[in-house]
Amino acid sequence: MPTLTYHGHACFEVSTEDHTVVIDPWLTDNPQADVGSEQIDCRGILVTHGHADHLGNALAIALRTNAEVVATAELAQYFIDGGARRVHAMHIGGGHQFRFGYVKLTPALHGGSVDGDETGRYTCTPCGFLLDMDGKVVYHAGDTALTAEMALTGKRNKIACALLPVGDNYTMGIEDAVEATVMLKPKVVIPMHVNTFDFIQQDLSPFPRQVKAKTKGKTEAVLLQPGDTYEV
Ligand code: NI
Ligand code: MN
Repeated sequence: MPTLTYHGHACFEVSTEDHTVVIDPWLTDNPQADVGSEQIDCRGILVTHGHADHLGNALAIALRTNAEVVATAELAQYFIDGGARRVHAMHIGGGHQFRFGYVKLTPALHGGSVDGDETGRYTCTPCGFLLDMDGKVVYHAGDTALTAEMALTGKRNKIACALLPVGDNYTMGIEDAVEATVMLKPKVVIPMHVNTFDFIQQDLSPFPRQVKAKTKGKTEAVLLQPGDTYEV
C-alpha cells in the first residue's frame, strides 16, 4: 500500500515498497517545507503546472536523480530544454502506465505560465494527476477551481485519497473543496495549498466536520502537517 508524505504547500511524496514519486516539489523557499530538495530521491516527478510554487525544485531533482518527469507537453519541453534526460509528455485526459504506476492527467482550471520563462513558449494548460500505485488511486488536483469535471472524475475512478487545494484566492476555498469532495467521492480528502502565502490563510478546523456532514460520513478529512505521513 502506498504511503503519502506531505512536504508542505502542494508537495507530496507517494511511496510503495519499490518506488517513490514526488508531486510538485517546491522545497527551496517553501516556508512549510520539512525537507530540502537534495533529500528527495524518487523514480518519478509529476508537475501540475509551471508556477514557481509547483515547479519549484523539479528540474534540479530530475537532473540529480534521473527520475522521469511527467507533465503536459509544453511544460515537458521546458524540462527537455533544461537538460532532463527522462521526460514524458502527456496531456489532459491521457493516461500512461509507468514503471512506478499508472498516471492520468485531469483538467484543472487555472493559469499556465511557467516561472522564469521569458519567451512564453512553455505556457501550458495546468493539470491534476490521478496516480495509481499498488491499486490505490491518489488524486492530486493541482491548482484549480471547483469544476463540473470533478463529478466525472469521481464517477470514473475509485479514489482512495484526494489532495485538494483549499486556500482560496488562487484556487478553490474550503466551501468549494467540500463540494468537490462530494463529487469526487474519495475515501479520504487531504487539504493542501493553504496557509503558505498571505492570501491563502484559512482556519481548517471546521473542514473535517463539513466533509463528514456533506458526504454523509462516507469521506474522512485528514489534516497533515509537513513531515506527516498517511497510509493510503
Ligand atoms: Ni498556480
Ligand atoms: Mn499554486
